Amino acid sequence: MHRAKPIIIINFKTYPNSIGENAVRLAKFCEKVAFETGIDIRVAVSAPDIYPVSKAVSIPVYAEHVDPYPPGRHTGSVLPEEVKSAGATGTLLNHSEHQIPMEQLEDSITRASKLSLVTVVCADIPSKAEEIAKMKPDFIAVEPPELIGGEVSVSKAEPEIITKSVDLVKKKHNIKLLVGAGIKTREDVVKALDLGADGVLIASGVDLAQDPEKALRELLP
Ligand code: G3P
Repeated sequence: MHRAKPIIIINFKTYPNSIGENAVRLAKFCEKVAFETGIDIRVAVSAPDIYPVSKAVSIPVYAEHVDPYPPGRHTGSVLPEEVKSAGATGTLLNHSEHQIPMEQLEDSITRASKLSLVTVVCADIPSKAEEIAKMKPDFIAVEPPELIGGEVSVSKAEPEIITKSVDLVKKKHNIKLLVGAGIKTREDVVKALDLGADGVLIASGVDLAQDPEKALRELLP
């Protein structure tokens, strides 16, 4: 089957293997595999790692989250301006591990987009994905929370979540769709793409692998 080249986002989260110096090391593996295979691999890293990672690699580096506030009195917040000046070219938003109230989400998308940051907004179910689609992010990533970090992928356990999201997000609103949760094998990736996703988000399958470079290579379609 012919399909467009997928987008693969590796979410580093805050695993010991994917923060600090290890974030730079892992990002370099991702870059190496991206260059060798020609596949569009992007990394989402935690705020303190954005600067060193984006200095070290030339593949896209995204923030894992940004707050919607403007610069000013917002102690401890992570602003779109900050991640951009640290080298990020996009951001995840509303990941199930860092949710944003729906009434704030549109603001977050608007603020990030104004700074030309690519927005990848997560949703747990297709109907929520459709609500978010109306806010016009660049990508929507559907991830059933109960499968995140597990051994069974969304492609195997909940293929209808992918097909429903394809209808509600891609066909109805013309927004690119990513899916994630439990993706551990090439078969999982291929199935997600065959069901109509434009790409996948992966974390533990690479972040926690003994040999992350090999694990990533083996996952690619
Ligand atoms: O953002 C991607 C992530 O939540 C999926 O995690 O460990 O199931 O690949 P994992």
